[in-house]
Amino acid sequence: MRGRRLENNKQTQWSDEIWQQYLEQLEIQFSSGELSINSIKKNTHVSIVGYGEISTILMSNQQPDWVLKRLPIFESRKQADNYLKNYKKYIQLLEKARINTPSHREFIVGKNPRSLYLLQAAFNPQQVGNQALKNKSVKQQLLIIEKVVYEIEKIFKFNEISQEEKGDYLLSCDGQISNWAITEDQIYFIDTSTPLFKYRQQEQLEYELLLKSTPGFMRWIIRRFFLEDVLQRYYDKRSVYIDLLANLIKEQLSSLIPEAMILINKNLETSIDIKEIENYYREDKFIWSLFLRLKKIDRWLYRYLYGKPYQYLLPDKIIR
Ligand SMILES: Nc1ncnc2c1ncn2[C@@H]1O[C@H](COP(=O)(O)OP(=O)(O)OP(=O)(O)O)[C@@H](O)[C@H]1O
Ligand SMILES: [Mg+2]
Repeated sequence: MRGRRLENNKQTQWSDEIWQQYLEQLEIQFSSGELSINSIKKNTHVSIVGYGEISTILMSNQQPDWVLKRLPIFESRKQADNYLKNYKKYIQLLEKARINTPSHREFIVGKNPRSLYLLQAAFNPQQVGNQALKNKSVKQQLLIIEKVVYEIEKIFKFNEISQEEKGDYLLSCDGQISNWAITEDQIYFIDTSTPLFKYRQQEQLEYELLLKSTPGFMRWIIRRFFLEDVLQRYYDKRSVYIDLLANLIKEQLSSLIPEAMILINKNLETSIDIKEIENYYREDKFIWSLFLRLKKIDRWLYRYLYGKPYQYLLPDKIIR
């Protein structure tokens, strides 16, 4: 299995049937509100590995070879099936662009509403890009950035060829450092759970789904800031690089930016400058903080007004 976390893991791998049973149980615990961010911290069988914009990344202590990305956003089986179809297509397209993606399995769980659990081979936390950069010499850090840049170039090469040959597909990529896992001899793109690609100029992601976790009456704000602008920028190479560089500020790696920028500018017709990165970061921070705040309002409404369990797990505080 690619991306194996524990080398001499003697644990038996669960069959699909066992996984399905396990995840059905887990989903009941989530949807009933029995499992929440606080109880998970004390819980013994599952832990939180990371937070996505729409997914929470979990790990079952019984099968630590896999991370579980839970997407609790579907009203029907059909909606979940369609998302899954796009997810598989996205991975297939990434592989076509010669980007490595980890082994994966997927399960649709629960009655309506349904959740999708995307399982992905787990990497050691130190192999995930943002952690991999920590406590390294500048020279080693730049080597990692160079590897990531090499991969991003492949995606845009794929798009260039696709456009030249009037192909059907265009790929987008969130190139931020935390979306790559670097092993001794390979690099993998791990942020596959938001399948963003265009088929004949049409965005294939049903992006209204991303708004599910925000309060209904506030969605227009997000639609305006988030959807139209944020999603589109991942199809533009220069924007992807600005995003990657600006995100180093969030990762507390600002000191790396000047040299990483020089490296990246070699691949661009119009160079990026520091001011642009800073301005972008300010705006980006505003958008994502707003998004999180809206989700917290939604959670409050569920708890105190609707009296219903809230479906998502939100991070306490993100240092930006
Ligand atoms: N396969 C994996 N192995 C180890 N850690 C992982 C793996 N996948 C994700 N993580 C951890 O969880 C974090 C968030 O994962 P991911 O990038 O998939 O979600 P996201 O960017 O927040 O996703 P979304 O697409 O839902 O917005 C990663 O940066 C990493 O720290
Ligand atoms: Mg990510």
